[in-house]
Amino acid sequence: MRIVSGIQPTGNLHLGNYLGAIRNWVRMQDEAAANGGECLFFLADLHAISMPHVPADLAANTREMVAALVACGIDPAQSILFNQAQVVEHAEMQWLLSGTARMGWLSRMTQWKDKAGKNREGASVALFTYPVLQAADVLLYQATHVPVGDDQKQHLELARDIAQKFNNDFGAEDAPIFTLPAPIIPPEAARIMSLRDGSAKMSKSDPSDMSRINLTDDADTIMQKVRKAKTDPEPLPSEAAGLEGRAEAANLVGVYAALAGTGVADVLAQFGGQGFGHFKPALGELLVERLAPINARFAELRQDRAALDAILAEGARRARALARPTLEATYTALGFVRG
Ligand code: TYM
Repeated sequence: MRIVSGIQPTGNLHLGNYLGAIRNWVRMQDEAAANGGECLFFLADLHAISMPHVPADLAANTREMVAALVACGIDPAQSILFNQAQVVEHAEMQWLLSGTARMGWLSRMTQWKDKAGKNREGASVALFTYPVLQAADVLLYQATHVPVGDDQKQHLELARDIAQKFNNDFGAEDAPIFTLPAPIIPPEAARIMSLRDGSAKMSKSDPSDMSRINLTDDADTIMQKVRKAKTDPEPLPSEAAGLEGRAEAANLVGVYAALAGTGVADVLAQFGGQGFGHFKPALGELLVERLAPINARFAELRQDRAALDAILAEGARRARALARPTLEATYTALGFVRG
């Protein structure tokens, strides 16, 4: 088992990142330790320049994200934790895969369509080729499993398509160059929605901070955000079918279930028939209880910049050693002369 995943250091870690991805990273790290597998988790800082950015913020956010991941339970002694910019093999591999990725494939990516919008001419080239770098991120390490939220599924399918075509075009039948990576998506928290709009995913780029729970929010802020979360006037149903067409209610019940480690049916068995005046404080308290220890560790870790930089340097050293053989095999398969 080779587990690889990344997160952009473009702002705070929020509840969607945590429940959709990071919690699974920690679980898989523990599983890998038991089964002799290996985990690589990275800050996708190279991806972060695909949208307008402030250099000083990128550096600060990269360090903060390392602190946040360690606070969530990623252990840098066990997992390899690094930022892409210190592992030059990612950018090299992206270029090598660019000969295989097709314009048509990239044009169909929903993230490209959403983020470029009507202004395609003004969008960066990096925003368009972003999924090729993402494919490089996982193929470089022969990843077998990639824990992500639902919104990254399409990018992972593209990585598989690139790997498959490259293997067909340049690999021997019995010796493929790349492993096809499988996405691992948590069914109970695949897509956590905005607290202000049940049809939009919870996201760092939403201008309203009230739309998301940040892992750095204090107890009062969390309680207030949950209290003000958009809902409807009906009481909660007793069965999951009753949540159909009630996106906001379904989202809050899903968050409760994911945090409590139960199913939606169990949550509705407990709260069915009750109004949000009762359910929201219970959800708020559960959130505070679960996030408080992470919050406290984060506050401590973020102070020690030297320790955070040392984690990234050591992670990059270990990542490069794993990346080299596949990168060299890729150069060779393409026919390059290498000294
Ligand atoms: P990013 O930084 O947007 O998000 C990091 C992880 O959090 C998940 N996620 C969510 N899950 C459920 N509900 C939500 N509302 C929600 N919002 C975010 C994402 O699915 C992701 O797993 N392109 C990637 C970073 C990346 C990457 C990779 C991931 C770069 N290279 C290689 C995996 C493998 C991104 O921008 O994720």
